[in-house]
Amino acid sequence: MKIAGANVLLTGASGGIGEAVCQRLLREGARVVAVGRSESRLNGLLRHPSPGGGLSIVMADITTGAGRRKICDAVAKLMPEINALVNAAGVNRFGALPTTDEEDIERIIHTNLTAVILLTRSLLPSLLKNPSVIVNVGSTFDSIGFPGFAVYCAGKFGLRGFNEALRRELAGTLVSVCMVSPRATDTPINHKAVRDMNKALKVKTDTAEETARAIVESLRREKPGNYTGWPEKFHAALNRLFPSVVDKAVARQMPVIRRFIGQ
Ligand SMILES: NC(=O)c1ccc[n+]([C@@H]2O[C@H](COP(=O)([O-])OP(=O)(O)OC[C@H]3O[C@@H](n4cnc5c(N)ncnc54)[C@H](OP(=O)(O)O)[C@@H]3O)[C@@H](O)[C@H]2O)c1
Repeated sequence: MKIAGANVLLTGASGGIGEAVCQRLLREGARVVAVGRSESRLNGLLRHPSPGGGLSIVMADITTGAGRRKICDAVAKLMPEINALVNAAGVNRFGALPTTDEEDIERIIHTNLTAVILLTRSLLPSLLKNPSVIVNVGSTFDSIGFPGFAVYCAGKFGLRGFNEALRRELAGTLVSVCMVSPRATDTPINHKAVRDMNKALKVKTDTAEETARAIVESLRREKPGNYTGWPEKFHAALNRLFPSVVDKAVARQMPVIRRFIGQ
């Protein structure tokens, strides 16, 4: 899709990756309706130059019916010819399963999976009217189960299934459906324990701008799938074909992982 002149609804716009996606889209001349919950961070987006003339902010919680209605009302008013939806909002809580409370489990699955499905369903009638692209932001952990991220992985693996089924369901319509699976990225979603563990495991970390570039490229090229980074791309394929090899590799990392997940 052509980014200049595109009408994009972007969730997670107040976050590290979302803000970088928003800036890049505006620089390239897209119109963006930017969604988040933090008023101050959303207002911060308004300071960026937007040559296409089009940034609007909407403060809304995607996990509530009222929040999603507010987003749909804003789209109807500000961007009736919407032709891109970037589902980038997400949450995480790192830790062993017994240390993850019920509320966090529900919040993670609801935000990263159920709310994305519900918002996408609400916007689909509008998206189907024009050539459009839906980009779902997954993670390396949408294909590789990793200790300390069991609930996050459950949500992101679910998102991958939703993405694939919807892509096939909408084949032959005006809407294409894409998934970007970023590797670790330096943003506030990763608390100190995750950053320290990544350092100890020598996990490569991208900047928010690098990940944003991959997301915007997926939008531009309508790439069905896009894992960012080596060796993550390779590990995802290896895990699909030979999961026992990855089981053994992760088992070797467990003494380090245990230091951080509180087991
Ligand atoms: N950083 C990484 O290492 C990494 C790697 C792979 C994939 N990802 C994925 O990339 C996406 C963006 O993450 P990030 O790294 O930019 O994290 P972040 O800086 O923590 O940003 C998360 C964004 O999600 C929004 N959000 C969370 N719950 C919401 C809700 N209930 N309603 C509306 N918005 C909500 C936040 O809005 P408020 O702050 O305004 O509430 C914020 O804009 C997520 O889907 C994440 O899973 C991140």
